[in-house]
Amino acid sequence: MSKESSVTIRPARGLSGVVRLPGDKSISHRYAMLSGIAEGDTRLDNYSTGADCASTLGCMQALGVEWEREKGSIVIHGRGGKLHAPASPLDCGNSGSTIRMLSGILAGQDFTSELMGDESLSHRPMARIIKPLGEMGAKITASEGGRPPLRLSGGHLKPIDYRMPVASAQVKTCLLFAGLYTDGEMSITEPIRTRDHGEVALRAFGAEVVQDQGSVRIRGGQKLRAIEAVVPGDISSAAFFLCAASLFPGSDLIVNSLLMNPTRARLLDVLISMGLEIAVTQLEEQHGELVGSLQVKGKQLRGGSLAGADTAALIDEIPVLAAIAPYSENGIEIRDASELRVKESDRIVSIVTNLRAMGAEVEEHPDGLRIPGKQKLHAAEIDSFGDHRIAMAFAVAGLRAEGETLIHRADAAVISYPEFFTTLEAMAQH
Ligand code: S3P
Repeated sequence: MSKESSVTIRPARGLSGVVRLPGDKSISHRYAMLSGIAEGDTRLDNYSTGADCASTLGCMQALGVEWEREKGSIVIHGRGGKLHAPASPLDCGNSGSTIRMLSGILAGQDFTSELMGDESLSHRPMARIIKPLGEMGAKITASEGGRPPLRLSGGHLKPIDYRMPVASAQVKTCLLFAGLYTDGEMSITEPIRTRDHGEVALRAFGAEVVQDQGSVRIRGGQKLRAIEAVVPGDISSAAFFLCAASLFPGSDLIVNSLLMNPTRARLLDVLISMGLEIAVTQLEEQHGELVGSLQVKGKQLRGGSLAGADTAALIDEIPVLAAIAPYSENGIEIRDASELRVKESDRIVSIVTNLRAMGAEVEEHPDGLRIPGKQKLHAAEIDSFGDHRIAMAFAVAGLRAEGETLIHRADAAVISYPEFFTTLEAMAQH
């Protein structure tokens, strides 16, 4: 275990402060990709500061899209649909969103590209995009078991009606992007509704996308127009502070300019149903996305269970919910979450290992976890497993443990939220 980037978490008595999160990761990726293929110059404020969204910008640049930073914003010069063949393999780093969603655009380009990533990304399943993009006419080869690196030869695509076997917004967005390069109308049907930022972003850039029950349809050949936008604060990053507040009755937190898209905000409903007090103090729409401010008052959490559509809607927030579960009254059970096993780490294993290291009782299931409540955790050495959300989730758990918690490989947090540890320290009351 690398100790080079270890962070010590001291026990806290409460959490208070005002926070504005860096731009949402899901929206930043989509805006960066669409602005690269739009006509005109897109200006983005509050673009995600995470390494994943930097990987997307790096790939777009390698595909001939010029961009620069200008007074805290980034300005991306669109190439109007056609990208440039990259001179070397596209490095997607740790980012599943980059490799999967960008493949949709590359499938419509008249050249061959290679997409690769780090050790974690090289183990993640890509068959879920290879199969439908192949049916549309793209030629894709992958490593054994459908893993990266990918070699993708694109061109003109044929529209398909695709039923996704796995609930994945990355796959849905990949296919919507590919749909722009067909000469007809295609439809994508999802088994469970997932985040709709792909649909909303395409509309913001001027495309028509029709949502109808569990399906979404897009016509090929539509032109995209540049936008000026402020990326709303990332609700999956805010989750760490909301959950930390729930550990300390009396905590007082204000979160400004936060993404409140209903397909992403299930965490708020779940935390409220478990006892946290959250008031929405402002709400507006920006480019089709709901953005609001929250006032949060810490309360002892009751706990509860999550399954089906709730699990799918909360997939990125489960690590931190699991990390606070032992401190709840009745514990938390999470099922239908086998997708957690193919994230940046096998998150079920990462959570179970670290909770047990802190002395917690936890039951592991193939598709989830059951964590009893009213437990006392003790200080431990935590391994992030190189996974950003595990590093941050266990920093939160450490706030109420007895003794000091040491998070190894804590630098994984840079993937989505480089400022996390500094902000947490500023808000924790010792
Ligand atoms: C994302 C979708 C989810 C999520 C990931 C971001 C997106 O992944 O876990 O962090 O922006 O569409 P899947 O599509 O694999 O479920």
